[in-house]
Amino acid sequence: MLDNFISIHDLTLYQFSKILDISREIKDNPHRFRNKLKGKILAMIFQKPSLRTRMTFEVGMLQLGGEAVYLSPSDIQIGTRETVYDMGKNLERWVEAIMIRTFAHQNVIDLAQACHIPVINALTDLLHPCQAMADFFTLKEKRGDLANFKLAYVGDGNNVCHSLLSAAAKAGSKMSVATPPGYAPDPEIRKQAEEDGKETGASFSFTNDPSEAVENADAIYTDTWASMGQEQEKEKRGEIFAPFQVNKSLMAKAKEDVFFMHCLPAHRGEEVTDDVIDSSQSLVYDQAENRLHVQKVIMLSLLGKK
Ligand code: CP
Ligand code: NVA
Repeated sequence: MLDNFISIHDLTLYQFSKILDISREIKDNPHRFRNKLKGKILAMIFQKPSLRTRMTFEVGMLQLGGEAVYLSPSDIQIGTRETVYDMGKNLERWVEAIMIRTFAHQNVIDLAQACHIPVINALTDLLHPCQAMADFFTLKEKRGDLANFKLAYVGDGNNVCHSLLSAAAKAGSKMSVATPPGYAPDPEIRKQAEEDGKETGASFSFTNDPSEAVENADAIYTDTWASMGQEQEKEKRGEIFAPFQVNKSLMAKAKEDVFFMHCLPAHRGEEVTDDVIDSSQSLVYDQAENRLHVQKVIMLSLLGKK
């Protein structure tokens, strides 16, 4: 069904909704899918740290009867020890698929072009598509109707925000984004989402005012203010983003039953307060669990046919 999984924008509407539907089936009947990837091996390249992504891909492969091999940031050293091209040309001789978490998005595109095996984007500076698929699966699970759903994203216009925009476009949802000036999402990604959204009825709004963004929201989503690779900007960003904290008072400006969402890891007391992330409105651990189910579907779509 899929050749690679690099961005949600690349998916057809059929593929997007099919991934969500089969995720439901896998979550409800995991044993039915045991052994579907028997004999298959996934190489997992990590240039950045991870808890959720590593665990869900590795556990997912094991539960599907396959295996996963972890390559740490010091193993490959893309661009210094070895080119992306050579890395791909080697890996395709040994494994059936590659999952990669890296900095430059171009690395993932180049890798997919270099080798004949499927490549999965497990986060770049630009996108985090596996996360957003799991998030929209979580929303569908909780609310059913994604077309009448308003997601408010408050914080940095980063990789997670970008993939949520693409997912909202495919799902036909409403999405509002509040960022400080200078931290808005990439204009190209925004344009793409607005274009894709024409087909589904999705609508988007962008503001610098968190209160405006969360008005009438069904879910409020935030992420770290300093992503991996931006550690040296942490202090400066902490000051700029302080008015964008998701706390009780911001939650009170949305719908009464508004959900709280976060891809994790969370920086408690910074982008979100304990009383919000630990509240009954918080979906954060459901989101984390659902990474497993959704990524199993992605791996089956890429590897099941071969
Ligand atoms: N949400 C997410 O991708 O978490 P990790 O960085 O721990 O993989
Ligand atoms: N925006 C964050 C997401 C972590 C899962 C980062 O890139 O570090």
